[in-house]
Amino acid sequence: MKLTRERFLKEQNTPTKPVVKADLSGKTVLVVGANTGLGREAARHLASMNAARVILGCRSLEKGDAAAEDIKKSTGNPNVEVMLVDLLKLSSVVDFANHLKQNVERLDYLLLNAGIAIPTYQASDDGIESNIQVNHISTALVAILLYPLLLDTATKYSVHPRLVVTTSGAHYLANFDSTVLNAPNILEFLGSKDYCESDGVMGARYFVTKVLNVFFIRALNQHAGPQTPVIIDTVNPGFCLTEFSRHSNEEGKKAAIQRGEMPHTAEEGSRTLIYGALGGKDEEMRGAYVEQVWEVREPSDFVIDEQGVKLQERLWNETVERLAQVTPDVESTVKHSLNH
Ligand SMILES: NC(=O)c1ccc[n+]([C@@H]2O[C@H](COP(=O)([O-])OP(=O)(O)OC[C@H]3O[C@@H](n4cnc5c(N)ncnc54)[C@H](OP(=O)(O)O)[C@@H]3O)[C@@H](O)[C@H]2O)c1
Repeated sequence: MKLTRERFLKEQNTPTKPVVKADLSGKTVLVVGANTGLGREAARHLASMNAARVILGCRSLEKGDAAAEDIKKSTGNPNVEVMLVDLLKLSSVVDFANHLKQNVERLDYLLLNAGIAIPTYQASDDGIESNIQVNHISTALVAILLYPLLLDTATKYSVHPRLVVTTSGAHYLANFDSTVLNAPNILEFLGSKDYCESDGVMGARYFVTKVLNVFFIRALNQHAGPQTPVIIDTVNPGFCLTEFSRHSNEEGKKAAIQRGEMPHTAEEGSRTLIYGALGGKDEEMRGAYVEQVWEVREPSDFVIDEQGVKLQERLWNETVERLAQVTPDVESTVKHSLNH
C-alpha cells in the first residue's frame, strides 16, 4: 500500500474513536517512553483500567516521577511506578530488563513507544547513530530480552500478552537505494558517519527508523511462530501534538497545520497505542500494522514486496547479530523462543 495525501488528510481529520477499554485488574503493563506525550497518555489509560502495576520506563527519574504522580492523581490508581532506562545506552537497556525480570511476576502488556527524530548525525556512546539506536536497536533489545517474560506470563496465567511498538505513517516514505541494499551490512552502513553526512540522508532518517520498526515487528512475529501466545503488533498514532516537535522546528508543525493536517492531541493519539494493546481480535493482530483509524493495514509496498520479504529477514539477522554482542541472553532467547 502507498500513502496518499488524500488518505492521510482524511484519517487526520476523522474524529478519533473512543478508547478501547478492558478490566486490567491483576495485570502488569510497561510503557517505555512514558514520561510525556503518547506514552504518558497510554499509561494513564491503562492505569484507569485498574492495572495492578503500571511501570513507566523512563530515562529521567525526575520526569518519570512527575508523570507517575500525575497519572496516580488523575486516575486514582496508586500502582504506578518508574523504572529507569536510557535507550541511548545499551548497558542501561540490559540492566533495565534484568531489573524488571527480578521485580515483576508477570508482564501482560509491553508498549515500546520511545522515539526520537534528531536531524543531524550523532553517535551514542555505543557508537550507533542515535535515531537508529533509540527507535530500532534498543527497542528491539527490550523486545527480545522481555519476550521470555511475556511467554512465561502467557503460560502461568493463561493469557495472551501483547507487545506493541509505536511506528509511524512516515514508514510509507522510506526506501533504500541500491547503495544501501548492496552494503555488506545494511544497519552498519545506515548508521555510518560518512553515509549519514551525505546529502538528504538525515532528512529521511526518521522514516527509515520507522520502517525498521515495521520490519522488526513482522520478523519478530514470524520468528515467534504462529502458535505463540504473545500477540505482537505495531501502531501508527498519526500526527499528534506532543513534545516530539522538540526534534524538528515549530515552523514545520505550524505549516503542517496550515496545510490542513489536523493533529490529534496526545490523548487521542494514545488511543491507537491502546488499540494495539487491547483492541482487535488476537489472530488479526499478529504481526499487524495498525493505522490511526484502528484498521489493520498493509504496510508500505517497500516492506511487503518480494525484495521487502528478503530484506526483513536480512535486517532481523543483522539486528540479532548486533544485539548478541550486547548480552548472551539475546542469542539464547532467539535459539529457544524465536526460532521459527
Ligand atoms: N507525535 C507524532 O506526531 C507521532 C506520529 C507518529 C508516530 N509517533 C511516534 O510516537 C512515539 C512517541 O512520540 P511522542 O509524539 O509521544 O513524542 P515525545 O512527546 O517526544 O515522547 C517521546 C518519549 O520517548 C522518550 N525517549 C526518547 N529518547 C529516549 C531514551 N534515550 N531513553 C528512554 N526514553 C526516551 C522520551 O523521554 P524524554 O522526555 O526523557 O526525552 C519521551 O518519553 C515515538 O516513537 C514517535 O516516533 C509520533
